[in-house]
Formats: sequence, structure tokens, C-alpha cells
Amino acid sequence: MTAIAPPPELLAALARMAIAVPAGTLGQQLTGGVSSDIWRIDLPDGAICVKRALGRLKVAADWRAPIGRNRYEAEWMRVAAAAVPGSVPRLLGQDEEAGALAMAYLPPETYPLWKTQLRDGLADSSFAARVGQRVARVHAATSVDSSIPNRFPTDEIFYDIRLAPYLLATAAKHPDRAAALHALVATTQANKRCLVHGDISPKNILAGPNGPVFLDAECAWWGDPAFDLAFCLNHLLLKCLWTPAATQGFLACYTALAAAYRAEITWEPPESLEARAARLLPGLLLARVDGKSPVEYITTEPPRAIVRRTARALLADPLDRLQDVRHAWEAELNR
Ligand SMILES: Nc1ncnc2c1ncn2[C@@H]1O[C@H](COP(=O)(O)OP(=O)(O)OP(=O)(O)O)[C@@H](O)[C@H]1O
Ligand SMILES: [Mg+2]
Repeated sequence: MTAIAPPPELLAALARMAIAVPAGTLGQQLTGGVSSDIWRIDLPDGAICVKRALGRLKVAADWRAPIGRNRYEAEWMRVAAAAVPGSVPRLLGQDEEAGALAMAYLPPETYPLWKTQLRDGLADSSFAARVGQRVARVHAATSVDSSIPNRFPTDEIFYDIRLAPYLLATAAKHPDRAAALHALVATTQANKRCLVHGDISPKNILAGPNGPVFLDAECAWWGDPAFDLAFCLNHLLLKCLWTPAATQGFLACYTALAAAYRAEITWEPPESLEARAARLLPGLLLARVDGKSPVEYITTEPPRAIVRRTARALLADPLDRLQDVRHAWEAELNR
């Protein structure tokens, strides 16, 4: 990709962040993001990454979200950096006016995207365990920090960009599971215990030399930590349909992540959290086929049918153990 001059509004945002950008500086727009414009800007001291939130997401369905969410993303980065050093790119500044933040640029040669590795069948369960451990450590640290609820008044954003488009949109397509899906929304909203990232997906995790680095916290929310755990485990189940040859590896990642997470739970009985995650997981699974944001790599009916059969059965007869959810999924895969 050829380097070009960054747009003036991005340069204005950097100026307000007091980040010096010499005249003639070039950059590249990065691909991958649907909810923001992401630029790599080549400064004399090295590259930085600038992310500016869009009011309207680049997805097929009309999906809008306030650009103020960028501020909470920066705030989540501050909290995570303090709780687990090295778990986020270094934050360089945030500008409310443009809804933009600047951070260190982490090159893909050294920090490959976990999603790319999984697509290629590279399923490292020790890395998955570190993902579970780091997510849980942010949850644990924030569960005892009384400043967090006031710093993240994001109930409405979380509802608009997570609960409604995933669970409620899916309920509209599955009227016979609507009550179960609505109940999951209510439970998730009622368990305000930790700072939730809200988008713990392999596409938002870099596999760095010192462990996982988390990006894209624009759904950050003071709420139910089970959401992060279930959301990430859901992606590992779905990867079995993308790269079937690595199914056993993905399932090993699932088990390792869940176990490592569970070992760090300090704020409530681990079995309570696990039961909420195990019940939420089928709702999220179905949402990635029939919700407003379906995964792009499931494009034919047979794998969709596997998702629907598993998820609909579990929504009707919930399980409380994540291992049992895994076994139900495996049984459907092998049918
Ligand atoms: N600090 C960074 N260094 C290097 N690459 C980055 C950095 N931040 C983001 N990227 C790249 O840009 C991609 C999109 O970033 P991000 O997920 O934050 O944007 P987004 O628009 O919110 O994405 P989406 O909503 O599609 O998940 C990432 O998957 C990653 O490849
Ligand atoms: Mg992202």
C-alpha cells in the first residue's frame, strides 16, 4: 500500500493531543476495522496508530454508534495498562472532539493478529490460556476499584452495540427462543461486577512476543464479566467451522482459556460466573449467524445449521458448565 498524506481532521486531532507531526508526514489507512478509520502515521521517531470512531459503521445493516465511545476505549486502555502491564498498545493521547486516539503502532511481523493465526490453523492453547488469564486479571483488578462505574457510564452504548444487535436481533428471528434470549440480556445487565472489554475477539487480539495485546475496547462497560469470557469462547467454537482441520486445536484453546480465566476469578464464586458464561454462549453463537453482525466466514447453509441446532438446543435446555457446552458443540460437529 502506498503512503499518502493523512486527512486534515486526523492531523487536527493529533495537534490537539500535542503530538507533533512534521509537514509532509505520510501515513497509510489500515484495513480491517469496520467501526473506525485506522491510520498508521510515520513520525520521525517511529510509527504511531491513530483510530477515529465513525458514527456509522461500515457494515451492510444500518448501524450507528456515538463517536464518544472512543473516549471509553482510551479509558479502558489506561485501566488495562495499569492492571496488566503490556496488555495494550501504549496510549499516546485521546481527542474528544474528533473521537480519536493515538497509540503505539505494533507491526504485524512482531504482533500478528490472533485471528490470522487461527484461520491458518495455528491453535496454541498456551496462548489461549494467557488470553483468559489477562482478561480475568483486568476483571479482578476492576472489581475492587470503586472509581470504575463512574468512569464508564456506558450502559446505553453497550446495549446499542452489543446486547441489541446480537441478542435482541437474534430473538426477533427466533421467536421460540426469544424469551431465553431476553432473559440473557436481563441477566447480563443485572450482574455489574467488573470492567468489561466488550469485544474480546481474535480479530482484536495481537499475538505479541510477551503475550496477548488487546485492541478495540470501544464497547467498554461496567457490567458482567461473563460477557467477555463467553464472547471470546464463542469465537473459538466458530473457528471450527472456518478451519475444520484444526478443530481439536481450537477446542483445546477453548478449554485452556476457560480454565485459565476461572483460576483468576476473585470477585464471585467461580461456578456462578461459569454458569452465566455457559448460558450466554449459545445466545452469542446463534447471534453470529442470525444477528445483525454475522461472521463473514460462515457463508453456506450446512455450517449455519450446525450453529443453529447447537445454540437452539442449549437455549432451550441450558448447561452450566463450559466443558459441557464444548461437548454439545463437538457432538453436533460430529453428527
Ligand atoms: N496499535 C495498533 N498497531 C497495529 N495495528 C493495529 C493497531 N490498532 C489496530 N490495528 C489494526 O487495525 C485493525 C482494526 O483495529 P480496531 O479493531 O481497533 O478497529 P475497529 O474499527 O474498531 O474494528 P472492528 O470494529 O472491525 O473490530 C486491527 O485488527 C489491527 O489489525
Ligand atoms: Mg476490531
